[in-house]
Amino acid sequence: MNHQTQVGIIGAGPAGLLLSQLLDQQGIRSVVLENRSQERVESRQRAGLLEQNTVDRLRQAGATDRLDREGLVHDGIILSYNGQRHRIDLVELTSGSRVTIYAQTEVVKDLIRLRLGSTPLDAEVPISFEAEATRIDGLESSSPTIHYTQNGEAHTLTCDFVAGCDGFHGISRASIPAELTKVYDKVYPYCWLGILAKVPPSTHELIYAYHERGFALHSMRSPEISRLYVQCNVTDTLEDWPDERIWAELQIRLGSTGWVLAEGPILEKTITPMRSFVSEPMQYGRLFLSGDSAHIVPPTGAKGLNMAVADTGSLFDALMTWYREGSRANLDTYTAGCMRRVWRVQEFSNFMTELLHHNPDRTPFDAHLQTSRFNQLITSRAASALVAENYVGHAAKQSAEATT
Ligand code: APR
Ligand code: PHB
Repeated sequence: MNHQTQVGIIGAGPAGLLLSQLLDQQGIRSVVLENRSQERVESRQRAGLLEQNTVDRLRQAGATDRLDREGLVHDGIILSYNGQRHRIDLVELTSGSRVTIYAQTEVVKDLIRLRLGSTPLDAEVPISFEAEATRIDGLESSSPTIHYTQNGEAHTLTCDFVAGCDGFHGISRASIPAELTKVYDKVYPYCWLGILAKVPPSTHELIYAYHERGFALHSMRSPEISRLYVQCNVTDTLEDWPDERIWAELQIRLGSTGWVLAEGPILEKTITPMRSFVSEPMQYGRLFLSGDSAHIVPPTGAKGLNMAVADTGSLFDALMTWYREGSRANLDTYTAGCMRRVWRVQEFSNFMTELLHHNPDRTPFDAHLQTSRFNQLITSRAASALVAENYVGHAAKQSAEATT
């Protein structure tokens, strides 16, 4: 069957769903194709820290009702180095910026409710679940076509533009001719084992800890649910990490004199590889990539979701210039505009990752540099302010003038 819409969106992650919702509010039609089921998409555990820029975009999309009620607003974060703690006062160091804890899964659920709830009875379904995009044709023309399969049947979706929001493993990135593409990639020699635990958080603010035994992070989902991570080896499996071992390592790595980490039943465990990746350009003809389909960051800076939302915001603005004024100007500069932000965020995510992990391959020289970097954060307000600016997302807003 052949379907038609204005913007064909591949992927119902935060990038694709937000774009669809923003466009709908301006009367622009879109269809989201998602190869997983709705249930699967809504149950994937991901990070959950939102910059103010991200909250603002979600507000523009009308998607903050529950976030405003349930989001936990944080004024600072705590860095710990072998048990020595240093608080980064985000509000003070950035003249008033805060961050909000609200799980990506909940953002996704809220956006899906909004999109499905706004379907006029006679209209095209705005999100097709279990619909796998297999190929995109005609990107150089004014009406590209997405080929997809659903329930074993072949379909096509013809549109004005294709938004490739299909994550790192999607098909969109590979639709840009290889000879035009540059890829930058770095894989770290460690992973994160993440847990959700039914226990009230033992801290009001996130604790990011470096320890000789490896990194640990104490985050949270609600006043009743904690989210914690420990660094593990790339060859580790969940069988290597029984619950007792996880809690024992968290106790040691997050430990600090006079502080106790409360333990509770573990609801979920996952292992996540750590990678930095950028593919350039983020566009080709009528195709525009947004979010993880174009770049991924290690989660130490909490930037994956925020970058996906920032890309989507830029793409939405550029599409509106096209639909309102008939001008391609902002679409043509989409990659360049995103890249400034992408590299700032890549550098910050890499900095936080290398500051806080125990790299099994590091030399004694590297170890001294790592300690010295932490000491500079403790002793220099300027160094802490730089971390704070990047963490809340201010630094990524500035346009860098230097080029590589
Ligand atoms: N056809 C249809 N859908 C696809 C296809 C395909 N061929 N390939 C992938 N998808 C879907 C995936 O199932 C997923 O739901 O695309 C979606 C991509 O969503 P995300 O991976 O969440 O990517 P994005 O929206 O860019 O959000 C980035 O999510 O991965 C985290 O840490 C990352 O927080 C960041 C955020
Ligand atoms: C999370 O709450 O899952 C989280 C928070 C901060 C990070 C990464 C993950 O840097």
